Amino acid sequence: MKGIVFTEFLEMVEDKFSADTVDTIIEEADPPSGGAYTAVGTYDFAEMASLVTELSRTTGVGLPELLKTFGYHMAGRFEAMYPDYFAEYTSVFDFLPTVEDRIHIDVRKLYPDAELPTMICEMKENGDFTLNYQSSRPLADFAEGLISGCADYYKEQVTISKIDRSQDGATDVEFTLRKT
Ligand code: HEM
Repeated sequence: MKGIVFTEFLEMVEDKFSADTVDTIIEEADPPSGGAYTAVGTYDFAEMASLVTELSRTTGVGLPELLKTFGYHMAGRFEAMYPDYFAEYTSVFDFLPTVEDRIHIDVRKLYPDAELPTMICEMKENGDFTLNYQSSRPLADFAEGLISGCADYYKEQVTISKIDRSQDGATDVEFTLRKT
């Protein structure tokens, strides 16, 4: 997993909880890398899994909620770091397909070792929009937070529902976005 995910995660923990919480979870998780991450480095996903688990244990907040909060935070950070990707569109329904078709393709060009999910989008005849998230990592809640952060960026009110078809460590979740 790319270091930017770790550096942003620890920033979010400091903002939403405290600098002490950052120290505590690194101490408890005791990651092999030592917990000093650089944005362009690459680290084992297991380190992220243990940091998030320790954060949940330390704060008493459940893992799904923490991952959604992190995804929402990440959407804001991506908007700040790469505004051009967002500014070209006026609706989250036009933007989201470009993550798979363009943004993550650019990410892979920059970082050939990036571990990216597959996200297939479809606009249904009844106006519902579906995003099918598939990954070897259990990050559907993180994806949901990202989606919700992007909807807020475009000031669109949507409900997000999901059907979980994951099995045997392969995450497969279909999100449905509906305008309210
Ligand atoms: C400008 C916008 C975006 C950029 C620059 C970006 C970039 C990245 C990068 C660098 C990673 C880490 C890859 C790794 O750890 O090896 C990543 C992972 C991920 N991205 Fe994006 N991303 C963007 C938008 C989005 C959006 C809007 C979504 C969701 C709809 C999304 C979903 C994910 C997920 C879920 C992962 C975690 C890996 C996994 O689930 O397997 N990304 N992205």
